[in-house]
Formats: sequence, structure tokens, C-alpha cells
Amino acid sequence: MTIRTVVKNPNEILTRKTKKVTKFDQKLSTLLEDMYDTMIDADGIGIAAPQVGVSLRVAIVDLGEGEEIIEMINPEVLETEGLEVEVEGCLSFPELYGEVERPFYVRIKAQERDGTWYELEAEDYEARAILHEIDHLDGILFDSKIIRVVDPSELEPLEEDEFV
Ligand code: CO
Repeated sequence: MTIRTVVKNPNEILTRKTKKVTKFDQKLSTLLEDMYDTMIDADGIGIAAPQVGVSLRVAIVDLGEGEEIIEMINPEVLETEGLEVEVEGCLSFPELYGEVERPFYVRIKAQERDGTWYELEAEDYEARAILHEIDHLDGILFDSKIIRVVDPSELEPLEEDEFV
């Protein structure tokens, strides 16, 4: 288990568009495992490879509570529906929380760590986390989408864990 350092804003790697993964090898598996350990250590529910200093199209979402860990390699958004405003945070922006409008529903395709393609549908906070991570892979950071900054004292106790 290796916990990597989380890259904090501002850093050029966070705003760079990531490269597609072409090798589905042990190195990729190690990256995914290190990203997962780093995310759990930081109390996050999602993490993207640039946040551990790797500019590749790889991200993880794990809402906890017995939900399956979603590993997304080369993800693409196929469809979105609806809109919802919710509070988000980000591991790369300690202490910044804000309301962001995102689709309520998303359908994506992505690859597993062995290269197999799959499709996934998600709603609500899971859809939000997936879209926040895919934004990271395109070099888009959530602070550019905040419509209202939220003071940490306004947060519900549970929301403090909702870093992505
Ligand atoms: Co983030």
C-alpha cells in the first residue's frame, strides 16, 4: 500500500488534458491501487490520476457504504440528463467548498484495468463524482464551476467527507 502525495492547486498538471491509457499492465494496476489508498487516506470519494501527478486518463469513484468501487480508464460521457446543484469539495483544494450545477444522471463508457469496455449509469451524487473526476482528466477544475462558495461551517457533518 502506497499513499502518494495529493497534488494541490495551483499546479500545471491539474489543468493539463490527460493522455489516453494504451498499456493495461501491472504499472496501471499499481497506479490504481495507489490512487485508491491515497483517496481513502484523504477521506475522498473520488480521485483522478493528475491528482497524484500522473497525466493519464484514469480515475476512481467510491462512495463507500458497500457501493462498488468504480475504476474508470479512458472514460467518455455518452449521455446526461437533468440538472442538480450540490456542494462539492476537491482533494486538490483543501478548505474550498462550493455549489456546482451538474447533470443529475450520466451514462458513461470506460475501460476496466484489463482493457475491457463497460457502460455505467449513475445518478445524483454518484453521477456528480464521476463528472467531477472526468473533468479532472480534461484539466477542468471545480473552482471554475462554483456558483456559490460555501463556508465549511455551513456544511452538514457528512458533507465534509465529500471531497472528490
Ligand atoms: Co477534484
